[in-house]
Amino acid sequence: MNILTKLTIFVLMCYVSAKYNCKMDGCQNGGKCTYFGNCECAHGYVGYDCGVQMALRSFGPSCTIKCLNGGTCFNTNMCYCTESFHGNRCQYQKENIQCGLEGIQITIMTSTKFQGEVTTKPNSTGCQFSNFRASNATLLRSYRLITPLSLQTTNPCHRAINRTVTPDKVTYSIDVAVSEKEGVYNPLRDRIVNFKCVYPRRIGEGSTQDNTQSYTPVELLYLDTRLQPLTQGVQEGDVFYIDFSPTTESGTNGLQVISMEAFSVHNGKVTTFKMIEKGCILPTAESRVKSMKQVEGTRPNGEKIHKTRIEMTAFSLYGNSYLHFNYDLKFCPGACPEIRCIRRQPIQPTQHQQPYHHFGGGPGLNIVI
Ligand SMILES: *[C@@H]1O[C@H](CO)[C@@H](O)[C@H](O)[C@H]1NC(C)=O
Ligand SMILES: *[C@@H]1O[C@H](CO)[C@@H](O)[C@H](O)[C@H]1NC(C)=O
Ligand SMILES: *[C@@H]1O[C@H](CO)[C@@H](O)[C@H](O)[C@H]1NC(C)=O
Repeated sequence: MNILTKLTIFVLMCYVSAKYNCKMDGCQNGGKCTYFGNCECAHGYVGYDCGVQMALRSFGPSCTIKCLNGGTCFNTNMCYCTESFHGNRCQYQKENIQCGLEGIQITIMTSTKFQGEVTTKPNSTGCQFSNFRASNATLLRSYRLITPLSLQTTNPCHRAINRTVTPDKVTYSIDVAVSEKEGVYNPLRDRIVNFKCVYPRRIGEGSTQDNTQSYTPVELLYLDTRLQPLTQGVQEGDVFYIDFSPTTESGTNGLQVISMEAFSVHNGKVTTFKMIEKGCILPTAESRVKSMKQVEGTRPNGEKIHKTRIEMTAFSLYGNSYLHFNYDLKFCPGACPEIRCIRRQPIQPTQHQQPYHHFGGGPGLNIVI
């Protein structure tokens, strides 16, 4: 089977803005956004985004409930939750989104006691979340929606998707209402969560010779076994390379792949395959991911960079479905320090913690530069 078509478009990157990050969402009341994407509040304000006046913070008799999960009690028995939780006591864990080329998967977690309803806004028939118990251990319930990105009327969710196109990216945005009471959305009690997938343009089409302006911190290049840009098809089982290079926009000269997984979406079903974790190739992935190492390269202006090269054997996860990748990257000023992997040749250790740049779906997003 020829999977070139997959290779030429699966490079598409996306990131998620479901999780709060002040680089994108800002801080309230004069708070400063730190390097790590957290807010440093001005004097007199508290809360994850500095949205609560210190004076309104409450203790003792005016706070007889317990705000869970790091929430801040304010006014009388009200909780200002951290970015990952919601509910009147911050008891509910929030949401995540996976951005794929063919579609988006949104998951909202609530407590199993949740009696309400999760719908897109606007709500439409045929575009409904399905509900299932996530796991016995967490006692959370998941609501999940998988929708194609299509805006055609044949997509039942087309009304819920807001697509904006700029010269450098395409953004798909979906609002989801989490209503405590089924069938009714109450703006005072309920909340709307905005999910976004941002797709840099042209990366997918032109990955082998990307001559567009650098607008993302990372550039991917697909190479054949002679390390020439891939121009022809690869067959399942063929060896090829992916180079991850820091672009000038990243402001750094080195990068490291911390984690990577492949996934395919087929008929709304997502199949994933983890390849790299904590900077090391997983033993279960060794037949597909042959090696990963930092190699030196140069930018057009002659500047030296340290890219990461992954050697892979082409595979597909589900029939002819496209393969997408999610990955976390770490950017370093120069070469990234080595992490020692138990089973394989050493790759690179973490000396001091630097923020990871997470692209693709899943929780723990951190797009900080
Ligand atoms: C959840 O609990 C049921 C009944 O105790 C059990 O049969 C099932 O295997 C459990 N599922 C998981 C994912 O642990
Ligand atoms: C779509 O998104 C754009 C940009 O975020 C916004 O200006 C516009 O109001 C949105 N449209 C709808 C119908 O929500
Ligand atoms: C959303 O749509 C479904 C199906 O059309 C309907 O059953 C439900 O009551 C609606 N919910 C809200 C909050 O409008």
